[in-house]
Amino acid sequence: MKIEGCSALITGASAGIGREFARQLATRARTLVLVARREQRLNELRDELRNRNAHLSVHARVVDLCDKSQIDELVRWLEENKINIDFLINNAGPHC
Ligand SMILES: NC(=O)c1ccc[n+]([C@@H]2O[C@H](COP(=O)([O-])OP(=O)(O)OC[C@H]3O[C@@H](n4cnc5c(N)ncnc54)[C@H](OP(=O)(O)O)[C@@H]3O)[C@@H](O)[C@H]2O)c1
Repeated sequence: MKIEGCSALITGASAGIGREFARQLATRARTLVLVARREQRLNELRDELRNRNAHLSVHARVVDLCDKSQIDELVRWLEENKINIDFLINNAGPHC
């Protein structure tokens, strides 16, 4: 698959390896969806990536991946906003 112009969803984007994946992908992707529980950290990263990458659409979504209803809500939100994810970085390793 091509990374250039992709729509990527990164779980665990608020810290560590996931945040670094987001920074690396930001110069190449068209859309990034950042997922984790800590809203402030997600929003700070979203703003940083938006400021550095004018072409990029970045969304921060607060989701506890241990809660199926929150995952369902994320999927609904993606569908409503017509965001078709073609690159998943399933990095978060939640202890549910
Ligand atoms: N670092 C290493 O050397 C290493 C080595 C081997 C494997 N790994 C694996 O690589 C992955 C990332 O490691 P890391 O060191 O970057 O970990 P980290 O710094 O602890 O980051 C974990 C990320 O996952 C998110 N997360 C945890 N539980 C979550 C939940 N229930 N729902 C949503 N998001 C959740 C955290 O965000 P919130 O707290 O904001 O939700 C955070 O963004 C993990 O799966 C880890 O097991 C890491």
